[in-house]
Amino acid sequence: MEKIKQELFEKIITHDSMVYDRFRKKESLNGHWHYAVDQYDTFLRQQWFQENYYDNNGNTLPVDFSFDEWEMMTLPCCWNIVDKMYMLYEGSMVFTRKFLYARRSDDERMILKIGAANYICRIFINKEFVGMHKGGSTPCYFDITNFLQHDNRIIIQVDNTRRSSQVPAMNTDWYNYGGIYRDIDLFRVPKIHIKDFKIALEPNSGFQQIHTSVFMSENYNGTATLCIKELGLSQDIVIQNGYGKLAFHAEPELWTPENPKLYDVSLACAGDRICDRVGFREIRVNGMDITLNGKPLFLRGISCHEESIKNGKALTDEERIENIRVAKELGCNFMRVAHYPHSERMAQLADELGLLLWEEVPVYWDILFDSEETYSDAENQLKELITRDYNRASVIIWSVGNENPDTDDRLRFMSRLADCAHKLDHTRMVSAACLVNESKNAIEDRLEQHLDLIGLNEYIGWYAAKWHRLPELFENSAPNKPVIITEFGADAYPNFRGTVTDKGTEDCQAFVYEKQTEIIRKISYIKGMTPWILYDFRCPRRTSVNQKYYNTKGLLSTDKKYKKLAFQVLRDFYHSITST
Ligand code: GCU
Repeated sequence: MEKIKQELFEKIITHDSMVYDRFRKKESLNGHWHYAVDQYDTFLRQQWFQENYYDNNGNTLPVDFSFDEWEMMTLPCCWNIVDKMYMLYEGSMVFTRKFLYARRSDDERMILKIGAANYICRIFINKEFVGMHKGGSTPCYFDITNFLQHDNRIIIQVDNTRRSSQVPAMNTDWYNYGGIYRDIDLFRVPKIHIKDFKIALEPNSGFQQIHTSVFMSENYNGTATLCIKELGLSQDIVIQNGYGKLAFHAEPELWTPENPKLYDVSLACAGDRICDRVGFREIRVNGMDITLNGKPLFLRGISCHEESIKNGKALTDEERIENIRVAKELGCNFMRVAHYPHSERMAQLADELGLLLWEEVPVYWDILFDSEETYSDAENQLKELITRDYNRASVIIWSVGNENPDTDDRLRFMSRLADCAHKLDHTRMVSAACLVNESKNAIEDRLEQHLDLIGLNEYIGWYAAKWHRLPELFENSAPNKPVIITEFGADAYPNFRGTVTDKGTEDCQAFVYEKQTEIIRKISYIKGMTPWILYDFRCPRRTSVNQKYYNTKGLLSTDKKYKKLAFQVLRDFYHSITST
């Protein structure tokens, strides 16, 4: 009986293995990899990574694999997209290639970074198990130095099986793409290197104080030097036992979506040097207002999945830039990148192009809220997200989940996550997309007291048809903090026309947007909205004649080429409130 050895479930790599890597010189491992579909996890059961081709007497063994004769796949990608045969495949695939390594300095460390692999990935180098990562949307970093020789074989096993213990669990309203779908890079760092670097404008400092913190890879004592040339700043930061922080006076031009001003920042310490491009802005809740740089604003948003018809979740920069462009055409200053961490490129591009972001971990619907294993998975994904995007001005909200039933276990689980986000980052707001309290028809969720902002999903006019419940909902509620309507919407199949009550027509969707915005605009405690959703996306749960395995609540068709009637309705609404 070929059981998978327990050790292959250990060596779990988490957020504390992350290494600051933005703008570091990378050696890409993207490209052609040999691969095999491994439906029964035979690779792990028979430990193919050990490449035992002979028995103890030197006789060849009838192995069931041939790494370098396998078919090839170009990574990164979602395997569902590259070959129709794998469209619905959920399970393991094994990828392998070779690469040469030549040490450049005695003390260097070689780090392998995988931008994202859904859901579990295991790394093997030269017949040895390096470690595994759980979580389908955040990067993982492996120090592979001690596994390397001149000519190397790397094997990555990826498993996108849905499991009730995972985050998300078995049931979601989006497509379960599989594979290594973001960049695979190697980069060299000195043994003592900058492991993490955080920098931001200090809230409540009159926009005149920048704080920074530096984490080194070792217990290092010395000085780091931070430079922001355009501000004429060069600051020494004392590093003790591998850590240092500093707050200093500065009067940067403030970042806004309309004026996305970024500064080139560099940090040098112990022979290592990193840089970043950083916007300085303050976002906070001020009573019942959300203020950006002290000015109240309304978050004119839209929700968006990380998906394209052509590439699945493996979006190109062009596709991300198009999503930002069309959101701005809609009149948006804000986007809810749902329901999981999108690529770090999305936040970097939002910094450059000027768009505020709500980022979210996939604590989605019902997960095992009473499981400590599930909690540590969720918390690790949150920590990886916050560590990855801390320096991004565009990111203003960390969301700890979406539409979770208000139970005691869920309250314990998600308030812990919210507290974790607050502890890691005092410069941003923490929220979640909560459900309406249906029995009271009110905004009333016990999680709210742990949040800075209340996100609310309500589908009145679509799932719940009675329109009178929407004004009643808002009249029945007395939130003590700003509310963002994180979802409303309706399905509309492109070009399907009819009356405003014909479900699935563009006319019905447009009517829902008209009614929703007409009512929402009168509610003073609503300070933003991210209707569901920018464009239609793949969804295995949607099989009606008009959906054909797509969720068609998009304001645009799947290829973003066709605007539905509701696009103009929302655009007019955002234009009307911008001009006030
Ligand atoms: C839910 C959920 C979305 C889903 C949407 C819908 O509220 O948050 O992920 O796609 O509603 O029903 O279309």
